Amino acid sequence: MKILIMNGPNLNLLGVREPGIYGDSSFESYLPKLQQRYPQVELEYYQSNIEGEMINKLQEVGFTYDGVVLNAGAYTHTSVALHDCIRSLKCPVIEVHISNVHQREEFRHHSYLSPACKGVICGFGLDSYRLALEGLVG
Ligand code: DQA
Repeated sequence: MKILIMNGPNLNLLGVREPGIYGDSSFESYLPKLQQRYPQVELEYYQSNIEGEMINKLQEVGFTYDGVVLNAGAYTHTSVALHDCIRSLKCPVIEVHISNVHQREEFRHHSYLSPACKGVICGFGLDSYRLALEGLVG
């Protein structure tokens, strides 16, 4: 199986950015633990702060990979373009959030992506990514 984990804007700052909300571990230090847990899965990691680059990458993998675990960061709450892109793909996309967005500001309560995704996981810290993978790998 081949799965892409994609992080959107500001998630390159995990470990540094608001550690009270997002924890003190970078994604790069968490990724090898995930890979160890799913040795049968080929995991690829991609991060971009740029919406169009995320769309390009999703289009590149979305017809051949077995799934995408997507934390689109703030674009979750703004992006019709990502919604349309996810709907265009052949492979399932799981929306993830580190924080429980429903416990936070109201503008984080709406997701443009959820209706286009296979499922949504939020609020489990970095473990949200593992739970999403579990959902894809079965
Ligand atoms: C986030 C939640 C979003 O509201 C926020 O804009 C992020 C991170 C999360 O993982 O909890 O950048 O997606």
